[in-house]
Amino acid sequence: MCPISLMRIVPTDAVLGANVQGVDLRALDSDAFAAIHRAWLDYQVLLFTDQGLSDEDLVAFSRRFGDLDEAPVQETGQRFVEGHPEIYVVSNVVRDGMPIGSLGSGEAVWHTDMSYLPDPPKASVLYALEVPPCGGDTSFCSMYAAWDELPGRLRRRVEGLRVKHDGTYNSGGYTREGVTPTGDPRTSPGTFHPLVAVHPETGRRGLYLGRRRNAYIEGLSLEDSSALLDEIWAQATREPLTWRHRWRAGDLVLWDNRCTMHRRDAFDPATRRVMHRTQIK
Ligand code: SIN
Repeated sequence: MCPISLMRIVPTDAVLGANVQGVDLRALDSDAFAAIHRAWLDYQVLLFTDQGLSDEDLVAFSRRFGDLDEAPVQETGQRFVEGHPEIYVVSNVVRDGMPIGSLGSGEAVWHTDMSYLPDPPKASVLYALEVPPCGGDTSFCSMYAAWDELPGRLRRRVEGLRVKHDGTYNSGGYTREGVTPTGDPRTSPGTFHPLVAVHPETGRRGLYLGRRRNAYIEGLSLEDSSALLDEIWAQATREPLTWRHRWRAGDLVLWDNRCTMHRRDAFDPATRRVMHRTQIK
């Protein structure tokens, strides 16, 4: 077992994120797990380096936080990790003419996971198996900070509004399996969520934006909705509210989907990036 005494939680110098050192996620005692859970609520995103996890280990660690959601269907309509329907493969690798995962090698735009669903996963866990020599960094932004720093005029404007989280496109710009592409957010598949959310575990307020493409604020004209969303998004994704992670194989990052968004840089398609992700209900 990995005792809490060996564990160190080192905050990043950004508004969110901490590096948890001295732990093997395959063997956490209950005190160590409780400290990790507390740190996750406090820092919103946690990084664990030098892990050597199998898919079973990844699922077992993720399950300590709660039941797992099934992974979204991949862009080719298939699920890829035999025996593990909870594992979503994020990869640009093509094997026998078929991508082994989703999101390719282009940019994945700012988003929070699966918020087009009525009950999206509270957390995601992303584990790096293979990473490119450069590019493919993942950035996170704090939606608590986005709310805290929103100008008063905008805070008053968005309070009580709901925003449609579109289910047509994933963050790589690919159309989801079985969905007819549309550019009209009023008719596209998706779910309305309150734009300002209270975190059920910390009680803190944060913006809940999902993704920009095909978003729509209930009750506004398309034009007014778009103008207001552009203004809020520009505030929420300002660099000082973000933390960027440069991956190494064996890194695991755990984030809270209720109070963060993330995006990924593009990378050279001739290089390989293979990540396995779980989603915690
Ligand atoms: C994701 O959006 O969950 C994947 C992020 C990444 O590929 O770094």
